[in-house]
Amino acid sequence: MKNRLSRIIKPKDGRTVMLAVDHGYFMGPTTGLEKLDEIVKPLIPYADTLMLTRGALRNYIDPTTDIPIVLRVSGGTSIIGKELLHEGIVASIEDAIRLNVSGIAFSILVGADFERDTILGLTQCIDEAERYGIPVLAVTAVGKDMAKDARYLSLASRMAAELGAHMVKTYFCKDFEKVIETCPVPIVIAGGKKQPEKDALQMAYDALQAGAVGVDMGRNIFQSSNPVGMIKAVRAIVHESATPKEALEIFNSTKQ
Ligand code: R5P
Repeated sequence: MKNRLSRIIKPKDGRTVMLAVDHGYFMGPTTGLEKLDEIVKPLIPYADTLMLTRGALRNYIDPTTDIPIVLRVSGGTSIIGKELLHEGIVASIEDAIRLNVSGIAFSILVGADFERDTILGLTQCIDEAERYGIPVLAVTAVGKDMAKDARYLSLASRMAAELGAHMVKTYFCKDFEKVIETCPVPIVIAGGKKQPEKDALQMAYDALQAGAVGVDMGRNIFQSSNPVGMIKAVRAIVHESATPKEALEIFNSTKQ
């Protein structure tokens, strides 16, 4: 478990840049990921971990690629379905082992009518993963009508940790320190919808300052006008304590 966790969160500084490209499991050919292999390949040297589905891993990533994998194992509903994020287990622990992953990820939707299903799915995954020393990243998904505030995100994050998750992915929010302080396991932030690079870098910086161990960022990298420049800039914030201004300079000075 510790060995795999150390592949995800780098022991040198206790931080991580996770590149999230798992969106296809409920969003299909997400803008920027239509040809997943082409966009991801130049980004891999700057990512500590790649988060994706088993189908993306099999079809788009060369098996000789040297990068730890966090496998998305929850799903079951689509972006056009009636119950967004009512997810169950969509990949077995045996397949995760066969794919040689360093961790698995499962989304819970606290506060939804079906929250119980997603929470029991998470705990089943944790029980199965614990048998093999595989860490579980709980993704605190947020429904369309739910507030992304510290009260809600600390509830969901703490619940995930109490239920046995080894890491939590949540959204950045005002008073983010409260989310960090009340969660006993490492937290990474999701990037969320694409925003101007300057704002996304500021958000990553503020999250790290508040105590997050890193980012699990997708759209703000692969939908950027310069994805390599953006991941290099994010990496500088996470691993080199760069300021948002310094990171933006890295973004602007990186050739497309
Ligand atoms: C959504 O549930 C997916 O797990 C994404 O990986 C996650 O939201 C992070 O990607 P983004 O930075 O695009 O929000």
